[in-house]
Amino acid sequence: MSAVVWWLVTVVMVTVHSASAGVVELNWEVEYKLRWPDCKEGIVIAINGEFPGPTIDATAGDTVIIHVTNKLSTEGVVIHWHGIRQNGTPWADGAAGVTQCPINPGETFTYNFMVDKAGTHFYHGHYGMQRSAGLYGMMIVRSPKETLQYDGEFNLLLSDWWHQGSHAQELYLSSRPMRWIGEPQSLLINGRGQFNCSLAAYFNKGGVKECKFKDNDECAPTILRVEPLKVYRLRIASTTALASLNLAVEGHQLEVVEADGNYVAPFTVNDIDMYSGETYSVLLRTHNPTPSRKYWISVGVRGRKPNTTQALTVLHYADAPEYEHLPYPPPVTPRWDDYDRSKTFSMKIFAAKGYPPPPEKSDEQLFLLNTQNLMDKYTKWAINNVSLSVPATPYIGTIRYGLKTLNYQKPPGKEIVQDYDITKPPVNPNTTKGNGIYNFQLGRVVDVILQNSNVLNGRGSEIHPWHLHGHDFWVLGYGEGKFRLGVDEKTYNLNNPPLRNTVPLYPYGWTALRFVTDNPGVWFFHCHIEPHLHMGMGVVLAEGVDQIAKMDIPNEVLGCGLTREFLMNRGRH
Ligand code: C2O
Ligand code: CU
Repeated sequence: MSAVVWWLVTVVMVTVHSASAGVVELNWEVEYKLRWPDCKEGIVIAINGEFPGPTIDATAGDTVIIHVTNKLSTEGVVIHWHGIRQNGTPWADGAAGVTQCPINPGETFTYNFMVDKAGTHFYHGHYGMQRSAGLYGMMIVRSPKETLQYDGEFNLLLSDWWHQGSHAQELYLSSRPMRWIGEPQSLLINGRGQFNCSLAAYFNKGGVKECKFKDNDECAPTILRVEPLKVYRLRIASTTALASLNLAVEGHQLEVVEADGNYVAPFTVNDIDMYSGETYSVLLRTHNPTPSRKYWISVGVRGRKPNTTQALTVLHYADAPEYEHLPYPPPVTPRWDDYDRSKTFSMKIFAAKGYPPPPEKSDEQLFLLNTQNLMDKYTKWAINNVSLSVPATPYIGTIRYGLKTLNYQKPPGKEIVQDYDITKPPVNPNTTKGNGIYNFQLGRVVDVILQNSNVLNGRGSEIHPWHLHGHDFWVLGYGEGKFRLGVDEKTYNLNNPPLRNTVPLYPYGWTALRFVTDNPGVWFFHCHIEPHLHMGMGVVLAEGVDQIAKMDIPNEVLGCGLTREFLMNRGRH
């Protein structure tokens, strides 16, 4: 056989082999870079020089292997695969202090896990406030037998951006008294935004604050180029640090078909609300404008008094002129504090046909009262009056090696706090730090009731999007005021509740969800607002600790804190 023929045979075999084996293997270098995310220079965390990081494109059933090299010279790093359940590989979940030690500067760590379910997901840093620093990217898991029909697709990764660096933000939030970081300077679509200038003026060629960039600039918007009379799937993920968002496409309706990697009963809306940690797929049907033209895509702030201009990009029909005037102004974002509108949207989401309903009854109820508190005059967020402080030794290691330092037999409270008036600021503003965890046996049906309350200064109650690692849960319902034990359970939707991994907790209200402890591991459950998590707004759940104790966990996961000592001593004997 000639060398060329042999080479061809090898290439064909390799291709066929990797197609059937379904392995996506990537080498990533994580590094600080100077970029212009919103037309102003700033420091971002880039992956292989890209910001946002590269999009992972896999098919359900594939094994994803990512060798992450930490090139941030002075700090550790981890990456969390948001929406991937990590069944059998809880150590690959990428939550610092929970499932692994941060990867040291200069070192490489390999994440190796199966993507068992199709969906729109993303990944992000989960150490300190590295998500705020721009460590994120999309993760698409395709279905080998997709039931949705569409002609093309676009990814939209939404984030918010501050001009102040994430280290300064961390320090501000941890100061006494706390110094609030304020609203973001820009909203970014695929890592691109325009600070203090108008994209509208740019396209209209003229106006007071016309954006001065060229099409290839780092802050030039990602234009969605479409053909008439086609169906496009927009895969949208919000990885904001703080902002709740609303997305609208001028002159087009959106058919919501997927949420957090699960199909939902399709419904059509003019715009969608999105909270940090959520993903959606919407189908957009193009019409046939004559003459061909462009339409605005806008993303604005909801749920907090906005001080950030909406992010814009353009739906550009083929043959529309590049620079001509968009005939109408961008869509106006609904009023930020129209919570009824937000709830109406949440309550339109049901599971698609074919999803089995949840188990009828739960084995346990876990009440989580969300409060803002003080600890030694530091501002904290607390759950059942405990503000989470993640230990240096990852829980998964402490459990794996049965180290006595972790008392998971004595978790924080689970009961509803009977005499707490959620409409008032906390009577006793003080909280304590804790690192206790909730411990569940396998196969339990657990209900979680998230309860919101008024903040310290008594001026209101904020939205908290709660995200659970390692699971999808059923969203059983939302309610106003304080949860009424034995009464509000009767309002649960046990028929067709949607499966999600992130759900909003609305001001002064409660949100109830149900999940099954079917995934041995240690799982973070927290508010996805980065500053809130930083200030302690989360809990940790352990499932099947006997299974974890038998698990084959790579040593590199545990090279810090007490597990490191343990492994070193074991090596010596
Ligand atoms: Cu996307 Cu623990 O988070
Ligand atoms: Cu929060």
